[in-house]
Amino acid sequence: MQSCKISIRALVLVVSGMLLLVASLYAAVGDGLWMTHVPEKARSKQNPFDSNPTAQAAGAKLFAQNCSSCHGDDGTGRNHHPSLRTERIRTATAGELEWLLTNGSMKNGMPSWSRLPEQQRWQLVSFLKSLQ
Ligand code: HEC
Repeated sequence: MQSCKISIRALVLVVSGMLLLVASLYAAVGDGLWMTHVPEKARSKQNPFDSNPTAQAAGAKLFAQNCSSCHGDDGTGRNHHPSLRTERIRTATAGELEWLLTNGSMKNGMPSWSRLPEQQRWQLVSFLKSLQ
């Protein structure tokens, strides 16, 4: 009887450990935690293009080429990849978005886009800011 009690305890521990692990995996993607890693200097950077329509159009093209496979053609997300038509993206500073594009959030599956010229990352930010 005693050993039976112990093994039930062990089972409960293992199962709750597994549940915690699954919960932490789900919480990680799209929880906005990356924002807490953005240095103050990057956060306040201004987009040289801002809401320039030519930059938005160039950004839309780059988005179709590089991002839509995960975030969907219309930016509403696909297969566990987050939607970009959210309050977080609307209220993020341009600098925060550009920082994420440069550094990625690799652990959670968001690649770094540092191989794109900086100008193209700002065009992508202009496009992201045009999403409602
Ligand atoms: C391989 C799949 C993949 C590709 C390609 C990809 N992303 Fe992501 N993206 C992700 C994942 C996964 C996250 C969630 C990361 C996190 O929460 O830490 C994410 C997060 C984001 C976020 C932040 C969303 C939020 O609400 O926190 C933005 C903005 C973003 N991506 C823009 C882009 C842009 C722009 C491109 C193209 C240059 C791109 N992504 C390409 C997978 C991808």
